[in-house]
Amino acid sequence: MSKMQKFFIQTFGCQMNVYDGQRIAAMLEKHGLTQTDEISDADLIILNTCSVREKATNKVYSALGRIRCAKKESALFGIVGCVARESGADAFKRIPELNFVLGPQSYHKLPEIITNPESRLLNIDLTGLEKFDELPQMNKSPLVAYIPVQEGCNHCCTYCIVPYTRGREISRPFNDIVADTINAAKTGAIEICFLGQNVNGYKYTDENGKLYRLSDLIKEAAKLPEIHRIRFTSSYPTEMSDDLIEIFGNEEKLLPFLNMPIQSGSPRTLKRMNRPDDLSIYRNIVSKLKSVRPDIQISSDFIVGFPDETEEDFTETLNIAKEIKYINSYSFKYSPRPHTAAAIMPNQISEQIKSVRLQKLDAQLNENQREFNMSCIGQEMVCLLEGIDKTKRHLVFRTQYMQQCIVEKPDYEIEPLQKIKITDANKASLRGEIIK
Ligand code: 5AD
Ligand code: SF4
Repeated sequence: MSKMQKFFIQTFGCQMNVYDGQRIAAMLEKHGLTQTDEISDADLIILNTCSVREKATNKVYSALGRIRCAKKESALFGIVGCVARESGADAFKRIPELNFVLGPQSYHKLPEIITNPESRLLNIDLTGLEKFDELPQMNKSPLVAYIPVQEGCNHCCTYCIVPYTRGREISRPFNDIVADTINAAKTGAIEICFLGQNVNGYKYTDENGKLYRLSDLIKEAAKLPEIHRIRFTSSYPTEMSDDLIEIFGNEEKLLPFLNMPIQSGSPRTLKRMNRPDDLSIYRNIVSKLKSVRPDIQISSDFIVGFPDETEEDFTETLNIAKEIKYINSYSFKYSPRPHTAAAIMPNQISEQIKSVRLQKLDAQLNENQREFNMSCIGQEMVCLLEGIDKTKRHLVFRTQYMQQCIVEKPDYEIEPLQKIKITDANKASLRGEIIK
């Protein structure tokens, strides 16, 4: 077999996967491979996969089918991430030519396939934090550096496959995360986004018994002069501790934007989702946040059509979306997943009803977004450069609320962080002018 030279990687799913994909690429580059965008050119093909909804899993298998036809005959290919963990050895049954199946905590084993290409590699163990130690650092960070602080989840929401695919919650050592943050700042990052399935549950006790929380990580990141913006995702409502709420009031670099999914506005549904079902606690957290940071905005994820969800339950979801005025939110049709309790609950809802409810909820979320975007007209916002649009005539920025803001591309070089006057808005984005 000829020497492996080029790899192709495609990432699906959440920010954690995007981060994993970057670390895998850095690891393979360290082994002397270079990245290619052409499947037909690659000696090693990796799909970094997501299994949170059935659609996501299906997407991976159809991509695998396409790759099988397009790849060089000698190329090795396989899957890493959550579908690998979900499918295990069954993946080899579905696609017999697959060379490796590596779960989200074992992709650092990938180089074994380079040194031993004849063998099949299967590892879906949940080993914990080992991968973080074994992977090389990236030597050039993007403007926004995503840094995992914990992996896995202890919450066991009844619809969610994450506790199965990513395992129980483990927090990374405080010093390791601080080292990653400093490395990101030194190599070009301006914004830090701390990541975790349950990021605000971050808890690490060092060898002297000192406990560190997410607020301590935010304080450390804020000390770095290169870092101008800090955020974190995704938060579990009842783990919004007071130290974390307070820091929204006294750390300006922490953006006034919080992703705190509620999933449903119906206490009856929330109970069966095994989520916090006392909405007064949720409302109280929102009002505490608003009192320390009046300009804060909240985003949420929603699931419609959870088993046995009635019209009344769904109306409560519509109402809470309206009441909290969520922006930048995501809504999904409930999708039964293997290894989850909700998949075998009675009274599963038909696709048709799910679709109608999703449409109604989306209409409300779009209306919230449009209203908020319009309220920004006339304001000056500090925005971070994200890229250039297809026409090459406009620059795309992100506001502190993660809204997209489009400006005409100036004919001079600009800094990535810009003060922009918002001149127009619609439900999808803002328009603005750079303030010189
Ligand atoms: N069906 C639909 N949506 C789901 N999510 C998680 N599991 C499911 C499922 N089985 C959604 C939740 C979560 C987001 C990442 O994906 O809203 O917050
Ligand atoms: Fe899944 Fe619930 Fe954990 Fe989020 S909090 S990862 S939805 S189990």
